[in-house]
Amino acid sequence: MKEVGMTTAIFPGTFDPATNGHLDLIQRSARIFDKVVVAIFDNPSKQQMFSLEERRGLLQQITEELGNTEIVSFQRQLLVTLAKTHQAAVIVRGVRSVADFEYEAQMTSMNRYMDDAIETVYLTPRVEYSFVASSLVKEVASLGADVSALVPPVVFEALHKKLQSSNG
Ligand SMILES: Nc1ncnc2c1ncn2[C@@H]1O[C@H](COP(=O)(O)OP(=O)(O)OP(=O)(O)O)[C@@H](O)[C@H]1O
Ligand SMILES: [Mg+2]
Repeated sequence: MKEVGMTTAIFPGTFDPATNGHLDLIQRSARIFDKVVVAIFDNPSKQQMFSLEERRGLLQQITEELGNTEIVSFQRQLLVTLAKTHQAAVIVRGVRSVADFEYEAQMTSMNRYMDDAIETVYLTPRVEYSFVASSLVKEVASLGADVSALVPPVVFEALHKKLQSSNG
């Protein structure tokens, strides 16, 4: 029998900004695993709407009440290496569509090639969040759409502040 112990999962993403889809996955993961490390990918070559610190702050606020999550960030590092650093045996990824799955399956195989001991688990969100992506939320919100049902209230507020300041 397998030794009983703590299982930590790592959930990587850009979270620019976090949506209800992300939160839904974090909540599900927090119920399944003992600890969930939410890892923000800090990609300096990609233009983000929210800075790393802003993304971290928003994630911190929306996950606070769960009690078994930790927010970290990473830059130019293999996910499997980061997972090991945090003693995470599982990578959590969200699958919204077949298109997501095709990409994720390839990533899973590459990660497995690098480290066979780390397992990737795919979770699906509630149907009402199955079309939600940060990029699409930003795009429609910038054109005036009401995205209040798609992002947590603190994110909604932050998004509006950003859009107001960028509209001059
Ligand atoms: N609505 C959602 N339902 C389920 N999983 C999601 C959802 N949105 C994002 N995810 C998952 O969260 C992880 C991080 O994704 P990512 O940071 O790329 O978010 P995103 O919403 O897809 O943003 P972008 O539009 O910038 O790609 C991925 O595994 C992704 O599949
Ligand atoms: Mg994405």
